[in-house]
Amino acid sequence: MPAQDVLVIGLGYVGLPLAVQAARAGFRVTGYDTSARIAAGLNAGRSHVDDVSDAEVAAARAQGFRATAAEADIGPQDVIVICVPTPLSEADGPDLGAVRAAARAAGRLLRPGMLVSLESTTYPGTTEEVVRPLLEKTSGLTAGIGFSLVFSPERIDPGNPEFGLANTPKIVGGVTPSCADAATAFYGTICEQVVRAASAREAEMAKLLENTYRHVNIALVNEMAIFCRELGVDLHDAIRCAATKPFGFAPFYPGPGVGGHCIPIDPNYLSYKVRTLGYPFRFVELAQEINGRMPGYVTERAAELLNHNAQPVNGARVLLLGVTYKKDIADQRESPARPIARKLHGRGAAVAYHDPYVPAWQVDGQDVPRASDLEAAVAAADLVIVLQAHRDYDLARIAASARLLLDTRGVVPAAPHVEAL
Ligand SMILES: NC(=O)c1ccc[n+]([C@@H]2O[C@H](COP(=O)([O-])OP(=O)(O)OC[C@H]3O[C@@H](n4cnc5c(N)ncnc54)[C@H](O)[C@@H]3O)[C@@H](O)[C@H]2O)c1
Repeated sequence: MPAQDVLVIGLGYVGLPLAVQAARAGFRVTGYDTSARIAAGLNAGRSHVDDVSDAEVAAARAQGFRATAAEADIGPQDVIVICVPTPLSEADGPDLGAVRAAARAAGRLLRPGMLVSLESTTYPGTTEEVVRPLLEKTSGLTAGIGFSLVFSPERIDPGNPEFGLANTPKIVGGVTPSCADAATAFYGTICEQVVRAASAREAEMAKLLENTYRHVNIALVNEMAIFCRELGVDLHDAIRCAATKPFGFAPFYPGPGVGGHCIPIDPNYLSYKVRTLGYPFRFVELAQEINGRMPGYVTERAAELLNHNAQPVNGARVLLLGVTYKKDIADQRESPARPIARKLHGRGAAVAYHDPYVPAWQVDGQDVPRASDLEAAVAAADLVIVLQAHRDYDLARIAASARLLLDTRGVVPAAPHVEAL
């Protein structure tokens, strides 16, 4: 008999899809978020997350889902899932403040027989060394005896129409084998496949391995993009050819830099942990350096293109297309568009942007003008830079009316006035 009452702590990109899916699976779901605005919006049937529609929130509401920003409102639970943010501190190390606060809240709600699952991305050891003591101290219960505790990384890919929570295998790593049994039973009702890790540490590491793998491979092709241009090699064509190998190769593509909550941040959690051993995690640090330099490289290429047209950057009208961190979603966190706009501003360019997902955009507290008429803005710009090739963009048409175009994604049809990164 599956548990009936599920509490999701943190209702963002990770927590809200989970809450909606659990409600769909028949659980009575409560969502707890410290933002009263988010809780009120959800209770009114409004989603603030790309992958969840208002209709899905309304359907979850009809199935009993409710959100609250008041801990006192939360009744007895069978399962608590923690999906709070894990940002970087000012010193670029892990900031586990939200995880600690959520673990304390979970500890106050803990009753014998409950399952607690941490889904926030974090370094190996967090579940055992940080969350477990807080839960045990606050509740007086012991993990593996009085309650179950697991780490189960969220692996969603916002904007991916093919893979979501239900059909992406769910990893669970228990503090004890019986904890993993409890989590396997719970997640088995929501996800098609549950994969057991040896313990919570391996589950934590699996998530960081996935994100570090992406980070390092993106850095590899970004570095290649820079020298391939000088060698006169079309890297996109080389990747297309290499990707025909049916084994041993996964394609990654160069771009203007990495963004989002995961790739620029999560590997820092791992390098922090490795540094506690007294040595650096060199692959991650090198990848960070290379990916972090890409916005500067894009700006240099923009200046070079304008220069070929006998134009200085100072006073040039530059239109940025797509300022979110990935295509087809509204999330702007850590987007490389911001440092690019900052650098162009610094050189005196008149920067404007267009993005169907971003109604207003600020850089360093200043509003960047938004082009509402895409076609007119493209025609009026001295240089158009494609940063995100959102599916709404007709790239052939954009290229046809642009004077000069820098394509940071390698997706715009070739033309004499179009340059790929
Ligand atoms: N966004 C992704 O694509 C993604 C994918 C996989 C894993 N993750 C990981 O999942 C975790 C959550 O990420 P997210 O993108 O959902 O973040 P988010 O910022 O979208 O949402 C987090 C929510 O938690 C709330 N919150 C913060 N502190 C809280 C507290 N103490 N109690 C209750 N609510 C609190 C915030 O108000 C916010 O609404 C992070 O560790 C992230 O690395 C994210």
